Amino acid sequence: MPLPPRFADLKREIAESYPDFERRVTDAWAEIVKQLEETSEAIKREGSDYIPQVQFDELHNLPEETVQRIRRVGSVVIGDVVDDADAIAWKKSLDEFVSANPGVQGFPGNNKQFFQLYWTKPQVQARSHSNVLATTVWLNNIYHVKGNEDLEGVDLSVPLSYADRFRIRHPGGDWSSFPPHIDSGSIERWDDPDFRSCFADILQGNWRLHDPYELGSRLKAKRTTYKRSDESTLFRTFQGWLSMSETGPTQGTLKVFPDVGLSNAYIILRPFFRPLVDVKSPEIYDPKNWSFDISTSDFPGIYEGGGGYTGPKPNIYTHPHLRLDETMTSLPKVNPGDMVFWHCDVVHSVEREHTGLEDSAVMYIPAVPLTPQNERYVERQKEAFLEGRSPPDFGGGGRENGFVGVGGVGDISTPAGRRAMGFAPDEEVQTPHSQKSKLLAGKKSVSRISHAFRELFK
Ligand SMILES: [Fe+2]
Repeated sequence: MPLPPRFADLKREIAESYPDFERRVTDAWAEIVKQLEETSEAIKREGSDYIPQVQFDELHNLPEETVQRIRRVGSVVIGDVVDDADAIAWKKSLDEFVSANPGVQGFPGNNKQFFQLYWTKPQVQARSHSNVLATTVWLNNIYHVKGNEDLEGVDLSVPLSYADRFRIRHPGGDWSSFPPHIDSGSIERWDDPDFRSCFADILQGNWRLHDPYELGSRLKAKRTTYKRSDESTLFRTFQGWLSMSETGPTQGTLKVFPDVGLSNAYIILRPFFRPLVDVKSPEIYDPKNWSFDISTSDFPGIYEGGGGYTGPKPNIYTHPHLRLDETMTSLPKVNPGDMVFWHCDVVHSVEREHTGLEDSAVMYIPAVPLTPQNERYVERQKEAFLEGRSPPDFGGGGRENGFVGVGGVGDISTPAGRRAMGFAPDEEVQTPHSQKSKLLAGKKSVSRISHAFRELFK
């Protein structure tokens, strides 16, 4: 279904705001389509090996080419962030929590595996684990500043906590609820001027210059203009999870399209083009069979729903050149205590099948830097924590403070973890001018690494 007519006006406004738009994006579209053909071949050839895998204890000393690879792919497996035994114990504790509290909310209702719980002890402990926070600081620092953006109150080296859920997926079953999609913002990617400016290079036809790690415009982007529930309102540099089990391909793990800049370029320009042949025809891949067209309100992959808009949810018909049936790549095998992160623009899905013999269990823990917007969210989240109710972004969980074994402030295991939850502010990181100069200097020097970060790596 096309979106309301005002979105045709939006397309025209965008086209008029960039010089020589039609010619530039038409040239870019042909180049992107060609690049997708080449990149898809490489992804298919390498499979899960296409996704970078590093160890936690080498994060401080990774070769630049590995960091560049992580930037390009947009997803990474980080091994041994937490001891295997700790992660396994958390899984056992979560199983016990769920057994002791049959009234917890989750789905599927008759055999709960995805839980709307935020404040169990293992979750509170994992979010405040020193290595988990250090990992998120490392990821936050992949982002950088290009212009003269207002960085007052921003520090990439001070991690914040975002309370999300966990899943304990049993073998078998057919999970169809998580087809390819992008989190954190839907039509807002085009509709919100600040969010749209994250993709300005693409809209100017300079798609190869697009940098998904540019901080400035990300800080102001509005991800939820329409106030959909269960949609993250704060700025996450990477979404992520901590594995509590051994899980490999076909065992219910995550799949990603492993080239975030390229998928951004294609998805952002897709609404400005219309296929001239049937989408199921082999001719669909030829850019000559596509025409520039801004006359409709159609934004393929964006749907009305949930009181706002959902998606992008690309599929093989709306976005054929992504060749998602072949390029959605399962993560390599992970062990308990390993973490996985993917940039907030990455197209991702969850495997439908789980052919393994054991549960596939993860806690969702993203990378969140200190920003004024994020800090405000954490303040509200803290109140929810103290009252044992669902965090502000999540409506469905209800109250948890009546459950047996729910976590409390005492389960936050580190000072940095307390700071991340909005408790006991660290005075050293509250000097906006020094933060600004550190960020603008852009040096990977020790002086740029804040007190909190050094503490985490001790
Ligand atoms: Fe998602």
